Amino acid sequence: MGPKTTGRSCAGKIVIGVAGALWLIGAPGLARAAPPGPDALHLSRDVAALLQAEMREIAGASQALVLAIASGDWEAIEHISERIRASYVMERELSAPQREELEAGLPDHFKTLDGEFHLRAEKLGSAAAARDAELVVFQFSRLLESCTVCHGRYAGDRFPGFSSPRREHHGH
Ligand code: HEC
Repeated sequence: MGPKTTGRSCAGKIVIGVAGALWLIGAPGLARAAPPGPDALHLSRDVAALLQAEMREIAGASQALVLAIASGDWEAIEHISERIRASYVMERELSAPQREELEAGLPDHFKTLDGEFHLRAEKLGSAAAARDAELVVFQFSRLLESCTVCHGRYAGDRFPGFSSPRREHHGH
């Protein structure tokens, strides 16, 4: 990463910090008006590839969860949730410079969302341990919600669906 990229990433961080603060103090109109951040992450190719690999793993695990939940296979749900919870990109296969890059390159808000995501995976595991089907389904929906929130904000290029305008829904 050249110095130019680092500068841009700093500016991005400030923008996100301000948007985050507005959101926290409850200015939903303004927060929604904030630009989506498809270019908010400035990661080198190597680190971006690691993130994508983690995402593919998470996607596979989420699909496995659907079947495990529908089958009431509590142990499988616990096991898969634990795998998701532990798959924290910052704790894996990273060289020291890559780790530094992630620390510096990922906006704080992204890290918060990521932390929340892993916490939700943990809660899903606990619901499965309690054999509470209704709570399992609820926690699973919260986990999926995390995917959409983070993608809408930070993966707009990869998932342009989140930035297309909403259509009015007329039920039939
Ligand atoms: C904290 C943020 C965050 C959360 C939470 C998150 N993702 Fe992602 N995900 C990303 C980002 C950023 C990308 C875009 C990576 C890129 O294109 O470089 C991505 C990309 C992906 C991709 C595409 C990978 C590829 O090979 O291009 C898949 C699939 C995916 N995510 C699945 C999921 C699923 C399923 C969940 C929830 C169960 C989830 N993600 C939760 C940030 C997140």
